[in-house]
Amino acid sequence: MPINPSTLTFSKAAPQTVPPYDLLLLADPSRELVDAYLPVSEVYTAALDGIIVGVVVLYPINATALEIKNIAVHPAYQGQGIGSYLLQQAEAIAQQQHYRILCIGTADSSIGQLRLYKNHGFTISEIRENFFLNNYEEPIFENGLQARHMVMLEKAIPLHP
Ligand code: ACO
Repeated sequence: MPINPSTLTFSKAAPQTVPPYDLLLLADPSRELVDAYLPVSEVYTAALDGIIVGVVVLYPINATALEIKNIAVHPAYQGQGIGSYLLQQAEAIAQQQHYRILCIGTADSSIGQLRLYKNHGFTISEIRENFFLNNYEEPIFENGLQARHMVMLEKAIPLHP
């Protein structure tokens, strides 16, 4: 059953707080890569009754493009609309901060995630060949497929009203 978004507390994590690695590593199993982009990104969390159930990490590529580097929902709360809510919040932040493009990348094996992003209006912009073979020590398998290429998607952000 979908969660009522008004029951979620969405907030920006203070830079000195320990990020929710349990969630971050669900989306990106490389602690090394996570630790490389966290210091140059903004981390936002969604909490339910004081417990963090979702996270989204926003990284500025340049003055016009913002990338969702990491988005994750606690497994017990997946499939209830929190991921969609986090995507909407990321779009709202991109607009408030005057970015014109919001990007997101996922593995070529992440079928459900691709469906989610495409349903939210993202379109494929680039394929980063062999990204998962070159950047991850262990092979990643999901949906019976090995993750090989990074599929980059993007969405145009309307001007802030
Ligand atoms: N299996 C099936 N469907 C999935 C999956 C999956 N593993 N992942 C996402 N979906 C899609 C489906 O399209 C589904 O839509 P449907 O109603 O048509 O079936 C939709 O997600 C569900 O939407 P929400 O409930 O809003 O999403 P949820 O709260 O489950 O959050 C998320 C989606 C963040 C991908 C979550 O499943 C998750 O944390 N997964 C593990 C971590 C992960 O893969 N993160 C993304 C990696 S890419 C990156 O971080 C840039």
